[in-house]
Amino acid sequence: MNKYAIPEISENVFWVGSKDWNRRLFDALIPLPQGTSYNAYFVKGDKKTALIDSVNPGFEKELEAKIEQIGSVEEIDYLIMNHAEPDHSGSIPYIMNLAPEIVLVTTEKGAKMATMYHNIPEERMMIVKQDDTLDLGGKTLRFIEAPWLHWPETMFTFLEEDRVLFSCDFFGAHTAFGFYDDEVEDLIGIAKRYFGEIMMPFKGLGKKGLKKAIDLDPLMIAPSHGPIYRNPERIFEAYMTWTHGRTKEKVIILYVSMWNSTENMVQTIVETLTSEGIELCLYNLTNADIGDIARELVDSRAIVVGTPTLLGGMHPLALHAVNLAKSLRPPFKYAVALSSYGWGGGAVNQLQGILKNTQLEIVGAVDVKGPCNEEDFENIRELGMELARKIKEDKE
Ligand code: FEO
Repeated sequence: MNKYAIPEISENVFWVGSKDWNRRLFDALIPLPQGTSYNAYFVKGDKKTALIDSVNPGFEKELEAKIEQIGSVEEIDYLIMNHAEPDHSGSIPYIMNLAPEIVLVTTEKGAKMATMYHNIPEERMMIVKQDDTLDLGGKTLRFIEAPWLHWPETMFTFLEEDRVLFSCDFFGAHTAFGFYDDEVEDLIGIAKRYFGEIMMPFKGLGKKGLKKAIDLDPLMIAPSHGPIYRNPERIFEAYMTWTHGRTKEKVIILYVSMWNSTENMVQTIVETLTSEGIELCLYNLTNADIGDIARELVDSRAIVVGTPTLLGGMHPLALHAVNLAKSLRPPFKYAVALSSYGWGGGAVNQLQGILKNTQLEIVGAVDVKGPCNEEDFENIRELGMELARKIKEDKE
């Protein structure tokens, strides 16, 4: 009786990855409510064998046991490192130590990282460039440079005969659930969250990577996180929207309130935007999941930030959220600030300073001492109407 279920995703192509059901944080920052997977693939040709990517540290022995169940580590000729981040490369030293003949295949930048992170000697590496191929015997691996998807050294690997694209982080999703795309409800929502967290800062290069992927006309996309797409057009369609930064008539509202003044301001603009038919998503930063925020930033056309002044500046939760949102480089175009203070302001100035060097147009700010009076509420309604007008007039 075999210990592990090892799906054969195409003839002589096996999934030997790991599911990390219990992981709850990535990069010490991003919540993973559904865990994640580290997908590695074992490809047997008539003459040679390759392992495509490895798994996160801690899962080395599981990877070894899975390979031994369908073959042996000694028969691996090539270990393809699509990406050097340790969730995929972390078990490379373990596997290469077990079989001294294995050659690591990666890009030039990948080779430098393999030395830096894992002390892999030069003589055990093969450097590949765009469209180089490796013949395994009836299985040809083609390498496609994909810089910054997710790190500068990243590449895709395409198995020509089977038309399987191993895209590493690109097209990934942080979930341990399901194996194929059609088995996971709302996979595109999960993939969108992942895109917002990981790929959105590099969406310009993502556009190029997407074109390369579409031109290969794959039957299957096998990323290194989450389900395998046996319907590639699903994720191609979504990435076409996301990498091109196409936004909707939609506003994301991030706010925090200490004594309800800021909350009342936010509620007022919510009513105005709703009455104008603008789609909204609203996050109280005291209990918001930043992964959800990243997901909604992918296609929001505007952001409203509500923050009181605390100790002369923005509330720290708002400061963190705005800095994070800015770092993710979402395609939003308009911003509005709502703020209240008790005796001296400062939050709005700080927010405007943070947003100064972005493409964002700051449509306006309402900064109120104490609770809003009727005139303040009217100012917020007018600002909401102005924001709605700009959003609707914006032609993508
Ligand atoms: Fe899944 Fe960039 O590593």
